[in-house]
Amino acid sequence: MNREEVFNFSAGPSVLPQSVLERAAAEMLNYKGTGMSVMEMSHRSAPFQEIFDTAKASLKELLAVPDSHEILLLQGGATLQFAAIPMNLLAGGTADYAVTGRFSAKAAAEAKKYGTVRIAYDGAASGFDRIPKQDELALSDDAEYFYYCANNTIYGTEWHYVPETACPLVCDMSSDILTRRVDFSKYALVYAGAQKNMAPAGLTVVIVERSLAGHALPCTPEIMDYATMIRTDSMLNTPPCWCIYMLSLVLDWVRENGGVEAMGERARERAALLYEVLDESRLFRGRARAEDRSFMNVTFSTGDPETDARFAAGAAARGFVSVKGHKTAGGMRASLYNAMPLAGAAKLAEYMREFEREHV
Ligand SMILES: Cc1ncc(COP(=O)(O)O)c(C=O)c1O
Repeated sequence: MNREEVFNFSAGPSVLPQSVLERAAAEMLNYKGTGMSVMEMSHRSAPFQEIFDTAKASLKELLAVPDSHEILLLQGGATLQFAAIPMNLLAGGTADYAVTGRFSAKAAAEAKKYGTVRIAYDGAASGFDRIPKQDELALSDDAEYFYYCANNTIYGTEWHYVPETACPLVCDMSSDILTRRVDFSKYALVYAGAQKNMAPAGLTVVIVERSLAGHALPCTPEIMDYATMIRTDSMLNTPPCWCIYMLSLVLDWVRENGGVEAMGERARERAALLYEVLDESRLFRGRARAEDRSFMNVTFSTGDPETDARFAAGAAARGFVSVKGHKTAGGMRASLYNAMPLAGAAKLAEYMREFEREHV
């Protein structure tokens, strides 16, 4: 298939803006007259340092990260942070975890190795189809932090409010970072794998309150110690150079296209096209409770695995890539990250209506 014939609904790694890929292609062999590709450059070189500084400055500006917080550009995926967070911020104490999906469950299980984890909410019984309300959270008096995952990529639910807690918040924003304003002063730490809204896979952005670093468990590997990574400006070792370069291009694109508020408005528009079909449908039903639905990952099913498979096959034949749901959730999932054009959501909505006419 040609690129023009494809809409990529993958949950991550996922679609990147066309103009970003074109710019990367144009600069691939010779980055700004250096005679080298960014992939070939020393991470200690002046041109790479400029790329690194630009990426960090753009994140700070676009997300309005306060001076109290440091931005780290790390390797190891979001999954490494499941351990790094308790090793640095829990260190034998107690933390509250809201389990609203697979990734927060994994994070809680990992944290148990390094301290006491209290489950403030567990959505497993309802198949992770919802987000708890504030008064459903069982909060401890002595928690070092409250942990939650802002957007549940697999189940298609999203926290549309910031939980009120006495302790600082820690949040996995892997699948909805750069889609809304965040008040970072409420957070001890926010982190996100880059491969959805930011860059290719291989980079994790961690935004951590500086004063909280420096208390890691003695067994913490140097590379996972936030204090070390702050001191070395994320360059204790070789950083994911290419991904950081791609991040800087994506952030330029976000800025040129109106910043995070505009990204959020477009995300709502895209998601509304699909939710409108689901709300009116006699064939499809949404997986998530309506008020908790994600603007990033729209999950749905016909209720019949064979019909779902037929829908997914038809979608693939039309160039709608990765519409099949995650194996633990079943059904279908359309991921609508920042780089997904509105036309992608509109065309998928059209196919859903067409499929329904043929199957009801
Ligand atoms: C919300 C969320 N958290 C964590 C992860 C794990 O990310 P990684 O594969 O970068 O470790 C994912 C992956 O899709 C995710 O969606």
